[in-house]
Amino acid sequence: MDVKKVGVLGCGLMGSGIAQVCATAGLAVTVLEVEQKFLDRGFAGIEKSLAKFAERPPEKGGITAQQKDAIRARLKGTTNKADLADSDIVIEAIIENVEEKKKMYASLDGVVKKDAIFASNTSSISITELLTATKRPERFVGLHFFNPVPLMKLVEVVRTIATANDVYDMAYEFAKKLGKVPVRTSDKTGFIVNRLLVPYLLDAVRAYEEGAGSIEDIDNAMKLGCGYPMGPFTLLDFVGLDTTYYITHVMYDEFKERRFASPPLLRRLVMAGWYGRKSGKGFYDYADPDNPRANQL
Ligand SMILES: NC(=O)c1ccc[n+]([C@@H]2O[C@H](COP(=O)([O-])OP(=O)(O)OC[C@H]3O[C@@H](n4cnc5c(N)ncnc54)[C@H](O)[C@@H]3O)[C@@H](O)[C@H]2O)c1
Repeated sequence: MDVKKVGVLGCGLMGSGIAQVCATAGLAVTVLEVEQKFLDRGFAGIEKSLAKFAERPPEKGGITAQQKDAIRARLKGTTNKADLADSDIVIEAIIENVEEKKKMYASLDGVVKKDAIFASNTSSISITELLTATKRPERFVGLHFFNPVPLMKLVEVVRTIATANDVYDMAYEFAKKLGKVPVRTSDKTGFIVNRLLVPYLLDAVRAYEEGAGSIEDIDNAMKLGCGYPMGPFTLLDFVGLDTTYYITHVMYDEFKERRFASPPLLRRLVMAGWYGRKSGKGFYDYADPDNPRANQL
């Protein structure tokens, strides 16, 4: 099957980015949201991102004004599930809530054509649990994109024990068609990236708790000593401490290993509502967003 029509569920941070890269790759995209205002917000974000690409030279991924208009024309928003009926692939990027996602898949299963592929962009929920909500377990995969989707090259393509080989191959090729670099992984919580990244981030918090160094010094050490683009505390504040805290629960629940458990300091920050960049405070204070200052914790 050649994918020509894509359905995207949710037009938030990830859904809008996924819709944008699919339309940029020449595919017709229909994005489903619960309310028009969320579509408006998501499409405004896409417009802004496309405007930035239009300012770039072609050798750096830049697009012309005509290309921008053509991409925009391939994108449609809807609040009606029936508009997804003839999608070749449906990529779900709604809130990270297992019941909401299962409800969504169950309601779409009878609406979207039978041979369409269902994919989830979940970061931490089991793909196998999600596919139980449908009658198409063999046509179900994970497609885990990274934020910001138009810029981040990686897609983790997640196979479950029920996924058919040809469906998995199609999903892998589809990610390539979007200009991404796919990697193959299986349905184990955290896939590849979060399985390795989350324990590292939590270890940084523990190192700070145990007095190994200050927040800035640990960040600088990992940036300059390992060549990482940002230190662990800067990254934690960027990802969101609430999101990270949530993921630690799912991962600890799956593996029962201390390295996935939340350190007390992370929990305290989340209880206090210090979620990182998005709330103005986390390991750093963002009163002046261009010049964050480490908090004394
Ligand atoms: N934020 C990240 O860095 C990141 C990275 C990779 C994967 N993910 C995953 O992507 C998914 C979406 O995350 P996000 O950060 O874009 O969240 P978000 O809150 O920005 O967007 C979620 C959107 O889904 C919409 N929505 C909720 N219920 C819906 C429904 N029933 N039908 C249609 N739309 C519905 C909401 O209105 C919202 O606009 C989650 O599963 C998350 O784990 C997030």
